[in-house]
Amino acid sequence: MQVPNYEEARIRSRQEVLVKSFNLDKDYEKIGLGKKFFIKTYGCQMNEHDSENIKGMLKAMSFTESLTMEKADFIILNTCSIRENAHNKAFGMLGRIKHLKEKRPELVVALCGCMAQEVGVIEEILKKYRFVNFVFGTNNLNDLPRLLTESFKDIKKTLNIEVYSKEGDIIEDMPVVRESKYKAYVNIIYGCDKFCTYCIVPYTRGGQRSRRKEDILKEVRELVKDGYQEVTLLGQNVNAYGKDLYTDYELADLLVDVSKTNIPRIRFLTSHPWDFTEKLVEVIKNHDNILNFVHLPVQSGSNRILKLMGRRYTKESYKKLYDKLRSIPNISITTDIIVGFPGETKEDFEETLELVNYCKYDSAFTFIYSPRENTPASKLPDNTSLEAKEERLYQLNELINKYSKESNLKMVGNVYEVLTEGYSTKEGMLFGYTETNKLVNFKGPTAAIGKIVKVKILEAKSFSLDGEIVE
Ligand code: 5AD
Ligand code: SF4
Repeated sequence: MQVPNYEEARIRSRQEVLVKSFNLDKDYEKIGLGKKFFIKTYGCQMNEHDSENIKGMLKAMSFTESLTMEKADFIILNTCSIRENAHNKAFGMLGRIKHLKEKRPELVVALCGCMAQEVGVIEEILKKYRFVNFVFGTNNLNDLPRLLTESFKDIKKTLNIEVYSKEGDIIEDMPVVRESKYKAYVNIIYGCDKFCTYCIVPYTRGGQRSRRKEDILKEVRELVKDGYQEVTLLGQNVNAYGKDLYTDYELADLLVDVSKTNIPRIRFLTSHPWDFTEKLVEVIKNHDNILNFVHLPVQSGSNRILKLMGRRYTKESYKKLYDKLRSIPNISITTDIIVGFPGETKEDFEETLELVNYCKYDSAFTFIYSPRENTPASKLPDNTSLEAKEERLYQLNELINKYSKESNLKMVGNVYEVLTEGYSTKEGMLFGYTETNKLVNFKGPTAAIGKIVKVKILEAKSFSLDGEIVE
């Protein structure tokens, strides 16, 4: 039993991070023969990609996937801690699984992901959800085959918790079952050292660790060989790439090298305005396959709140960076905004609206502040009522939607390249994304799926576009 510990999670040691190669023990290869697993994933792209690795490991252990919980022999929840509602969803799911387990005691149940790294969550699981077979954390994903085998061999074994608060090694060559045959996630940096005061990620994902550039490039070259059209380079804070590993190699350099693999489309997520270099702006401008799309979370338009959030930039410096990026022709810029941070006044919120009016974002994710266990912001006094926060969110969303629609309307009548991903939920239509990450539903032949095609935009909505294929 190894439970999480926030003191350890906060320490950023200068110890060297080891790079190891994933190896599946021969004894684990047949464990899943004739057995099915069900996986439920919550949270960000990082977590989605972890689930692709989990599926890869399970496939290597001979499991097949079940799309329903009822038919599964093994259920795994890959959880998220970012806001309270992600918690509630996962605990709600555990409640449903409890009933299944009562009917089928041989069912194996596991929980992993960011919630597993939370001290309070583990206490609750130990108290109320003892039917769970095992829990492992974000730093030891590669322990899954061993933990699962132990549970199948001894189903009566009591709840096993193996969560490490010290960041793990970097494991290369993890097996992977990707969701898409056309676009792929590629991790470039794990963890985060920024410690924004509202955010739990530095505690759940540990210290910043960059992958070696040669390992990243090898993965991208293999994706190119397999016919992939797009990669998204992933990290909680991609702009910090390389800082822990190299003295003169940063995200901009990595992007240039990835660009040389000739993968048609490259995205990167998520950027912190603090680390966004001039060189990076130039690299986006000068390389066709580095897409004109930047997700640049601002969080608030009030300098007072930005300071309390520990963001280390001001609205003035943010605007300066924003203007530089906007000078790239046809760029799309999106953001994240939190309303109702402790102590946010009406005036602070008005400043956020002002900033949105200035930036006219292509789209944005907006959230009501959610206090997270052990974070500095959760200890700040907060006198704003939930109703007032909901009203602010509503007002903000109205403004965001207005600018999204305006940016979409500008595209009507023009032709854009779209990577076709499959059949749309709209009958008889296909769907895909433009270089600027806009969702397009369009009429076209099945043969277009998996290809980059030219689409003329016919109609704009707030959240999507309708079009027709022209080539
Ligand atoms: N409450 C609300 N939103 C949060 N985010 C991160 N932490 C919190 C929190 N405690 C938002 C930020 C971040 C996005 C991924 O989630 O806007 O950019
Ligand atoms: Fe959620 Fe953050 Fe963990 Fe992603 S890294 S799953 S957003 S808590």
